[in-house]
Amino acid sequence: MKRSASHTQTVQIVVNGIPRQVPAGISVAAALAQQPPGTTRTSVAGEPRAPLCGMGVCHECRVRIQGRIRLACQTVCAEGMAIDTDAGTAPGIATPCP
Ligand code: FES
Repeated sequence: MKRSASHTQTVQIVVNGIPRQVPAGISVAAALAQQPPGTTRTSVAGEPRAPLCGMGVCHECRVRIQGRIRLACQTVCAEGMAIDTDAGTAPGIATPCP
């Protein structure tokens, strides 16, 4: 049975304090990519970074989820999930590896 777009379920997440509705079942990386700037962290050189490999290898997608460092590409969005990126922060305080 084919589902129509009107039956698509969504969950509410909070990204950097801003509530957002996203399709249920998508990864945090996909949710972040839907909203500008789509970045996840800042490199030690001060460059914005975003998910690259999508399979848990590069760690470019490190974010804080519920206060804990997680890989956005390996985490499915859940209702009420609080996600904090460090995009735009000063160099040298980038999110460490989980
Ligand atoms: S995008 Fe490479 S580890 Fe998540």
